[in-house]
Amino acid sequence: MTTPQQPHGPLRSFGRIKSRPIKPKQAALLDTLLPKIAFDPAKPLAGETWLEIGFGGGEHLAEQATRHPDVRIIGAEPFLNGVASALRHIDERSLANVRIHQGDAREVLAALPDASLARIFILFPDPWPKARHHKRRLVQSDTVAELARVLTPGGRLRFATDWADYANRALETFLREPCLRWTAERAEDWRVAPADHVTTRYEEKRLGDCAPVFLDSERI
Ligand SMILES: C[S@@+](CC[C@H](N)C(=O)[O-])C[C@H]1O[C@@H](n2cnc3c(N)ncnc32)[C@H](O)[C@@H]1O
Repeated sequence: MTTPQQPHGPLRSFGRIKSRPIKPKQAALLDTLLPKIAFDPAKPLAGETWLEIGFGGGEHLAEQATRHPDVRIIGAEPFLNGVASALRHIDERSLANVRIHQGDAREVLAALPDASLARIFILFPDPWPKARHHKRRLVQSDTVAELARVLTPGGRLRFATDWADYANRALETFLREPCLRWTAERAEDWRVAPADHVTTRYEEKRLGDCAPVFLDSERI
């Protein structure tokens, strides 16, 4: 008899939850700021809302929140050091429009009503390059169906990776989702970073096996 790996939910799509010790200032923000801005599924979302899944150190999240003060941006990230780093950006920039979920973004998706998000970002998700780990990748048909469910009609999903196999399989998955339309019309649309993209820390590391690919889809 085989024992299921994780009987209570989807397979883990992330690596470490904590690495190096957290600096005292950031540890203090985890205690003081995080409880104030934690995503609360019981509170209805007011106004235009975006979601960033796996924000890492939070650089993209903080910059988009700065550029769009009228938009509420939820960030989901299980990696505690990343959450602590994002809190530092949020504190330094006095951002009032960010909500944080320290945990799996799929918990946020499950809590959101249909058609509640205008934009979703999945930027350089864990690539899980080994074939036996592909099932841990975040972009799977069931998650993509959830992403489509929570997007408003005309809402947009951005996925970026620098792993060719993940780009190919993610694109296949997006194209199979009947409620999403890939917006690219020419190669530059997926080969060149979109004008509103903010370069991420992981992207800068160039750890993948191809140049960054940007797949933007629209909710039909
Ligand atoms: C390779 S890093 C990229 C971080 C950031 N987006 C960047 O480009 O610098 C992927 C991040 O996604 C997070 N992650 C993985 N699975 C996740 C999930 N189910 N929900 C939220 N975040 C997740 C990981 O903890 C990790 O910090």
